[in-house]
Amino acid sequence: MRTQVGIIGAGPAGLMLSHMLHLEGISSVIIERSAQEHVQSRLRAGVLEQGTVEMMRSLGLGERIGQLGLEQHSIDFRFGGESHPINFHEATGGRSAWVYPQHEVVKDLMTARSAAGARMLFETPVTALEGIDGPTPVVRFEKDGVAGELHCDFVVGCDGFRGISRHAIPAQKAQVHDRIYPFGWLGILAEARPAIKDITWGCHEDGFAMMSIRTPSITRLYLQCEPDDSPDNWSDDRIWAALHKRLDVPGLPTINEGRITQKGVTAMRSFLFEPMQHGRLFLAGDAAHIVPPTGAKGLNSAMADVKVLARAIERHYKRGADELLERYSATCLKRMWLVQRFSAGLCTMVHSFAGDSSFVRRLQRADLEYMTGTHAGRLQFSENFTGLPVDA
Ligand code: APR
Repeated sequence: MRTQVGIIGAGPAGLMLSHMLHLEGISSVIIERSAQEHVQSRLRAGVLEQGTVEMMRSLGLGERIGQLGLEQHSIDFRFGGESHPINFHEATGGRSAWVYPQHEVVKDLMTARSAAGARMLFETPVTALEGIDGPTPVVRFEKDGVAGELHCDFVVGCDGFRGISRHAIPAQKAQVHDRIYPFGWLGILAEARPAIKDITWGCHEDGFAMMSIRTPSITRLYLQCEPDDSPDNWSDDRIWAALHKRLDVPGLPTINEGRITQKGVTAMRSFLFEPMQHGRLFLAGDAAHIVPPTGAKGLNSAMADVKVLARAIERHYKRGADELLERYSATCLKRMWLVQRFSAGLCTMVHSFAGDSSFVRRLQRADLEYMTGTHAGRLQFSENFTGLPVDA
């Protein structure tokens, strides 16, 4: 099998890259180890930056966001028994964020790729990458126990945190930056009408909590928990008691309770792999970086990487110029370290770390008060939350 760009992984990064290349007349093949139904149904992130929504609209993928997406202008931080909202729409002169679940993004992309007759191989794990130092790399894969190979000009690892592509970069040329947080999030989906339309964060001494609207009748909720905690340790009563304690403030609507339909624990990590390219191999999305969910940057960073890479590959084929390709890793890492800074900084600010001294806890409170109570603090949060510019 032969194509111009071999893409490993049919998550948001792989599908978006394939779609963008197709619009420029550049061929690609996506090789995905899971079944198509599984890829389309995975529940993940749910907040899109302004730039991601603009990108999808400009690529003809904005229709369902217009129908189902919930535009957000403000986020409410609750601490000290009070509400401290930041109107990021106002602070940035009109930039928004949208609640639009990742599986809907994947569905939009999968529909577009299928309609265009894209070559997508599902249930086909990639087993090895060869020749990435030369001009004709080969992607080896297996389908029903039968080995196959894809010859291409470029290989893009969109295979997520547990993928194989970054391991094809020689260890002596790679550097891993990693931080594992001493807590996790218990994610909850409840059949309860969201009491508040804004994303609401509870920064409580007992631990962090979040409430966001998933649909007008479904609420997405999170509770800080132990990193190795189990959903079985959390009865419905314990969940609602903790959510009320960490999110409710006097004088404002309390969160609505309802039937809990989903519970799951997510570990928290900040991870960055450098460089994001080697020879004809490029990494995009979770294959190169992981952020804690505070700040909602995982999906949006994957889209930013792909926007830079698609432009660079198009420049290679259309003008025979490779300076954007040569600068891909540096361009993405410059932005990604700012995203890591924002996500890790928020994560540290809003969670309670066991054993922290009173000094550290008061510093956290001062950080929250500065971020929500000053123009500079609100502007800095708002510029980052609605999305930093993408140098594409
Ligand atoms: N061969 C083929 N496919 C693979 C392999 C492999 N060896 N290893 C992993 N994959 C596939 C996975 O099955 C998955 O479908 O790569 C895909 C990676 O998709 P994501 O993990 O969604 O990563 P990405 O596209 O970068 O999107 C990042 O997804 O995980 C969330 O929080 C994350 O919101 C962020 C977004």
